[in-house]
Amino acid sequence: MTFRPWILLMALPAAGCPPTLPESPHNIAHRGASGHAPEHTFASWDLARTMGADYLEQDLQMTADGILVVVHDETLDRTARGAPDDCRGLVREKTLEQIRRCEVGSWFNERYPDRARPEYPQERIRTLDEVFQRYGREVRYYIETKQPEEAPGMEEALLELLDRHGLTQGAEAEGQVLIQSFSAASLQKIHGMNPRLPLIQLLGSRAGNVVPLLDDISAYAVGIGPASSLVTPGVVAAARARGLLVHPYTVNEPGEMRRLLDLGVDGMFTDHPDRLAEVLSER
Ligand code: G3P
Ligand code: CA
Repeated sequence: MTFRPWILLMALPAAGCPPTLPESPHNIAHRGASGHAPEHTFASWDLARTMGADYLEQDLQMTADGILVVVHDETLDRTARGAPDDCRGLVREKTLEQIRRCEVGSWFNERYPDRARPEYPQERIRTLDEVFQRYGREVRYYIETKQPEEAPGMEEALLELLDRHGLTQGAEAEGQVLIQSFSAASLQKIHGMNPRLPLIQLLGSRAGNVVPLLDDISAYAVGIGPASSLVTPGVVAAARARGLLVHPYTVNEPGEMRRLLDLGVDGMFTDHPDRLAEVLSER
């Protein structure tokens, strides 16, 4: 991997003292090593660590009783199995007690029989608190506020949990935690609560030309997370000129990984951190 210290100096233009981020390019395990194991499970995050991931991604939802849990979809239907009253429908309409009754491994075994393992159906949805308890300060986290407009208090709960686990300082100083969202309002709210926390503005594939957005984004974020199809030499240059990191998602093919690295991105989200580690080792 290439160490580019200038990016450390240029990041976080709006937040005073920039964090000293880890060496880039960053290998970001998308929902863990979710190409190999059921997404957002201990199995998936553990595997990502062994595959050389620099960051473990978590997507946040909030339960009916206000607990942050790590689930990608708004509903439980795709990945959870168990009694329908507990394990179908919107996460935000279930209590944590209900969600704890669901398992999140069978769907993966059914869909990917070549990668199935008998232990996966024991996997459970985890609270963010449980994730922090398991990995502590030994890993770096890349946490997304999902549908935050539907979960009032999500940002406050996240910052409280970071504080409780002693992760705020690591986030501020060395990017141990990056917080991402498609919601500019959510990121701006977090920036207002703590302007030193490093934030990444996600940009969906239908965002079009993102260059005109970058001045506004650089007022509160240290980087962008664009759909990989949006990334062009012009986007990378414009982000670079504003000191913004570029972390495209979700990149699983080595050819596309190489294209993006050649353009100078600072890392990427992948379901296959092993593939990205191999591509990075070639360079
Ligand atoms: O957070 C980066 C990428 O994960 C955004 O898409 O839908 O997988 O959360 P999604
Ligand atoms: Ca995500």
